[in-house]
Amino acid sequence: MSSSVILFASPVSVLCWAVRKPFIAGSTGAVGKTLVKRAGVEQVAFLAHVRPRPGVARGAFDRKFDLADAEALDLALRDCNTVVQLIGTIRKRFQSGDTYEVSDIGTTRLLVESARRVKTIDHIVLLSSVFAGRPIGAYLRAKAEAERIVRESEIPYTIFRPSAFIGAGHEVSSFVQRHAACSTRRVRSS
Ligand SMILES: NC(=O)c1ccc[n+]([C@@H]2O[C@H](COP(=O)([O-])OP(=O)(O)OC[C@H]3O[C@@H](n4cnc5c(N)ncnc54)[C@H](OP(=O)(O)O)[C@@H]3O)[C@@H](O)[C@H]2O)c1
Repeated sequence: MSSSVILFASPVSVLCWAVRKPFIAGSTGAVGKTLVKRAGVEQVAFLAHVRPRPGVARGAFDRKFDLADAEALDLALRDCNTVVQLIGTIRKRFQSGDTYEVSDIGTTRLLVESARRVKTIDHIVLLSSVFAGRPIGAYLRAKAEAERIVRESEIPYTIFRPSAFIGAGHEVSSFVQRHAACSTRRVRSS
């Protein structure tokens, strides 16, 4: 399977559901919830990671544990063949304990290390960010580092560099809505 970086597309569109069993990391986020819903509608088998916090209980597909729990992570990934890494944070969540180092970089490292251990994962999908290829500032540097970890994993991958998402869970200014592109553009493939 080839690896690529995609500028603006739906993660759903690169997953061939018939042969894919994704482990969705970041499943409680805005993109994650959309993906979980879509997978449910399409009756796709998947597992969804949930942080061990009170409140989230959706279905048998949820796997609630700390990603640093290697045993639990290996057990979940062993049952899947694709990692969909949607985890990330933003500066305003730093007060709750999230950092770019832990959320964007650290979780990507944990997922890649587990994927390499269990050997069932043959593709990693990473949501990065537009401009991660020219990183300026802590957020983009974290995204660039997460990309590097995935690229060097020796596991085939697809990296998305979205600009902004529009839809449930994402408040987007009317300016962005007016100028949002609907096209998909493949910028690099190897
Ligand atoms: N939104 C955009 O317009 C946009 C644009 C460009 C790139 N992106 C990137 O696309 C990805 C998905 O975006 P989104 O809008 O869906 O993000 P989101 O709504 O902020 O969701 C973030 C997800 O990451 C999880 N998470 C954060 N830190 C974690 C940690 N240390 N351990 C485990 N889980 C953790 C959150 O879990 P909890 O629910 O438990 O907090 C949540 O499920 C992110 O990487 C983001 O940087 C987003």
